[in-house]
Formats: sequence, C-alpha cells, structure tokens
Amino acid sequence: MDDPTREFLSTFQRFMSEVVNQVSVDSSDLTPLGAVVQDFLGTDISTLPAITHGLPAHRLVDADLALAELGRDSGQPPIGVSGGQQREHLPLSELLFSPYGRFSPAPIDYLSIADGPETARRVIAFGLHRITFEGHPVVVLERAAQPQFGRPGAQLEILSRDTETSSRFLDEFSRLVLSLSVLRGKVLSFTGNEYGNSSAGATFLHRPAVDADDVVLPPGVLETVVRHVVGIGEQREHLLAAGQHLKRGVLLYGPPGTGKTLTVRHLLSRTPGTTAVLLTGSSIQFITEAAELARAMQPAIVVLEDVDLVAEERGMHGPQPLLFAVLDALDGLEGDADVTFILTTNRVQVLERALAERPGRVDLAVEIPLPDASSRRRLFRHYAGGLPLTTEATDAAADRATETTGSFAKELVRRAVLTAAEQHRAVTDEDLSASLDGLLEAGTQLARNLLGGGAAPENDGRSPRQWGAYAPLSPGSTLG
Ligand SMILES: Nc1ncnc2c1ncn2[C@@H]1O[C@H](COP(=O)(O)OP(=O)(O)OP(=O)(O)O)[C@@H](O)[C@H]1O
Ligand SMILES: [Mg+2]
Repeated sequence: MDDPTREFLSTFQRFMSEVVNQVSVDSSDLTPLGAVVQDFLGTDISTLPAITHGLPAHRLVDADLALAELGRDSGQPPIGVSGGQQREHLPLSELLFSPYGRFSPAPIDYLSIADGPETARRVIAFGLHRITFEGHPVVVLERAAQPQFGRPGAQLEILSRDTETSSRFLDEFSRLVLSLSVLRGKVLSFTGNEYGNSSAGATFLHRPAVDADDVVLPPGVLETVVRHVVGIGEQREHLLAAGQHLKRGVLLYGPPGTGKTLTVRHLLSRTPGTTAVLLTGSSIQFITEAAELARAMQPAIVVLEDVDLVAEERGMHGPQPLLFAVLDALDGLEGDADVTFILTTNRVQVLERALAERPGRVDLAVEIPLPDASSRRRLFRHYAGGLPLTTEATDAAADRATETTGSFAKELVRRAVLTAAEQHRAVTDEDLSASLDGLLEAGTQLARNLLGGGAAPENDGRSPRQWGAYAPLSPGSTLG
C-alpha cells in the first residue's frame, strides 16, 4: 500500500473502527443463515473472530464495487438475510447464532445510490458475500448506513477461518475501494445531514463548461491563475523530477460579482479527469475529509468558496476557527501531492490575520477586481453577444455604468431583452439604454449592491472605488 492510500485510510478513522468480536456462543443456536456460513467456511464458526470495518456512507458504492470485484470469479453469489428490522440491531455473530431469531437466507436488500450527476448504482444494502480470497473462504456482511438505527456509516463484517486472511482481505478491499472509486475524476460537493458529519454525503455535480472567452478579466489575470492551477499539473513529472512541489494554494479575492466563482468554474472545465470537491459555507466543516479524499484521488482540486464565512466560526476541529482547520488541511498534505486548494472571498481583510499566522499555505493570491472601463466594455459586449445591439450602444452603456461588475452587465442585458420580449419585438439599443437608466436610477444602494454594483462589501461609507483599500494584496502577489 502506498503512502496516499495509507493516509487516506487513516483519514476516515472517525468512520472506521476495526473491532474484533469473538463469536463465542452456544453452537446449538446455529441459525439457518449460520448453517450456510458454516458450510461455506468449512469449519466450526462458533469461535471465529469477526472484523468490523466501518466506512462513510458515501463510500458504500465504492465498497460494493470492490466486493463485487473480489467475488467476481470466485466464491458463491451473495445472499440476503431474513429478519426485518431486528437484524439491523444485531452484529453478524448474532445473526449466525441466536436462540430467538431464525435468521435465514433471503432475497438481497438493494439500495440505489448516486454514482454520478445523473446516474445511480444499485448496491447491496443488506447482504452476505461468500468470496474465495487467495484460496480461503471469506464471508462479508455488507450493510448500508442506517442512521435511524444508530449506524451513521456503512459497515462490513468480515469472517474467515483466521484473522490474517481477514486482514489481508481488508487490505485488498481497501486498495480496490480506491482504485475503483466512483468519486475519482468527478466534481463533488459534501453535504451534511441531520445525523451529523459522519454521514457526510457526497453529491455529484456536472463539470462546468466555461470557456476562457467567457471570463472577462484584466489582461493576464486568468492566465496567471490557469498557469498555477492547470500548468503545474501538466508539468507534474518535470517538477517532481526537479524536486519541486506540486501542492498549491490559490486565493481569489475581490468584490462580489466580479467573477471569482466564474474563474473557478473555468478552472474546473480546464481539468477534466481531476477530482474536485467544492465546499461552500457550512460544508467547509468537511475540509479534513475533502483534503484526504483529494490526497487519495489526486490530481485533485478542493474549492473553498467564500472562506471568510468561516473565518470566525469554530468547527468541530477544536477551539480554533474553522479557517485554521482549512489552512492546516492545506499544510497537512505532502508537497508532492498534486492537489490544488482554491479559496475565494470577497472580504480578504477578514482572512489576513489567519493567513499571516499560517504563512506558506497560499502561494498565489490574485485579485479579481472591479472591471475598469475597458474591461466593462468587453463585459457589456460579451453579454450583448448575438443580440441586435450596436457596439456603440453597448460601449456607451458600459461607459455610463461605472463601478459595476460582470453580474451587473449580465442582468442589464437580460432586462433589456425582457422589456423587448414583453412588447413582442427584438431588443434595441434604446431598450439597453432605458434598462440602464432604470437600474442606475432605481437607485437604492442596496439594489445596486445586489446586482454587483461594486459597492464595498460592508457599507462603512467608503465609496466602491476605495474597495482596493481593503485589499492590500496586488494581483499575482505571493503570500507567505
Ligand atoms: N469577469 C467576468 N466575466 C464574465 N462574466 C462575469 C464576470 N464577473 C461576473 N460575471 C457574471 O456574473 C455572474 C456572477 O459572478 P461570480 O459568481 O463569478 O461572482 P463572484 O466574484 O464569485 O461573487 P461573490 O464574491 O459574490 O461570490 C457570473 O456567473 C457571470 O455570469
Ligand atoms: Mg462567488
């Protein structure tokens, strides 16, 4: 097993317990299920040790794939277990030996779990595998998470004639779980649920398709970010051979609506095959899991959107703000890990102390600024693209709409098109100009802020232009 794999396994420590249960029961209580197991293992099973192996709910698909692979050419088909809810509360040993329940082979219980943005896989929710591993019979009980029965994660119980076989089986199983993982190369977000973190679910997202042409930034800005995130990955072999590290931390900061998230979406479309985990707001609490997943699945990208939201918040990782857990996760990865952390914020000043106290985590900080006059013209032209609007009109609108952002330009054009559509005609230059009047005059500052009018993120009386005063880091500057 290589280092990332080992690390990954220890990651999920919280979810994983390896408990050896001595079965030690009255052999006359053998259930019909017990008889089947005893027959397969070919030995008296009343004193055999079972190994319990827990795994996070979202890895059950991977576990199911690994078990199917292990049992593909050897052993016997999996079977289900009778006994309804009662069996949920009992360990394998008590399903095999019981003076009360007559647990018997039965049809398998299946469950459908997502394995992609639009696909799902049928996995065994409660079933017994009979696998011949390296010539030895191994029985594995596979159970899905059942938080309502106090089982927040999925669980395997492994029974074989000796513990060495069981542990070798578990090693091979863990290797397969990683290599067959349906998470690899996907774009995921983690979500908690009412049962707490240990049942952190992974949600699959479509990989965005955003061209470089769709991201309108000052010259060189996008290229700088792409070079750091994508370019380093492409030169992986050369960099490693020259003893250079691959791990990178990128901070994108700037006012709301200027294209930070759009830039991230572009980066994701530039990196097909790279596993990406997106964490926003409260899901940033899953940073440790995300970092470990990234390490195991590298090349990988971990995106932490709006990290300022957790700058003060205390997570489950101790008394420190969650932000420190984020920075520590960055630090915890080896330098040669092909993992990129991308942090975004529109309140960089909130992060400064933390970044200064944990230097070296972020190696590229790039400002995504309010667009200047020429960027604004490009933005307005971009969003007017394909519409019957003249360049003169879009340029004129851009020149008037000072201190606005890309999201404002997009909304402006939408309103102009809507006005025309309501009157059953094509959009005209006049619609654009009238919509702009409306937006600029409608005028509460709040309305402009909501549209990405480029105001300071916290209204403390400074004009939007002074936003730069919040942001002492210049584009492309290096922290740490
Ligand atoms: N630089 C830009 N180029 C092209 N479109 C842009 C740009 N900035 C913003 N937009 C448009 O506005 C939308 C919102 O921008 P985005 O979500 O990237 O802002 P943000 O910087 O992440 O803001 P926040 O700080 O509020 O998260 C984008 O999806 C895009 O349609
Ligand atoms: Mg954003």
